[in-house]
Amino acid sequence: MATLHIVDANGRAIVVEAGQGQTVMQIVRESGASGMEALCGGGCSCATCHVYVAPAFADLLHAIGEDEDALLDCSDHRATTSRLACQIVFDACMDGMSVTVAPAD
Ligand code: FES
Repeated sequence: MATLHIVDANGRAIVVEAGQGQTVMQIVRESGASGMEALCGGGCSCATCHVYVAPAFADLLHAIGEDEDALLDCSDHRATTSRLACQIVFDACMDGMSVTVAPAD
């Protein structure tokens, strides 16, 4: 198990133990964090799972996909560390990673 740190839409900090193979979207939703709607269920078609990944962990993630990039471009809240949580498969090498739920568009 590895640890994921979450800051939800209300600014509440949550720390969860997570197994590898789940997406960060699934982990955040199961944590009870607010603000993670994930309306499309992980299909990379809604962008309601938008998070900011702590910069120190950005290099651990696979390159952003074309669809993910296009969806994030539609957000008024896109930042350099923006990702869609449903596109990040959690792995032990991400132990200690921090994600912040982005404001809703
Ligand atoms: S849950 Fe819809 S894009 Fe991630």
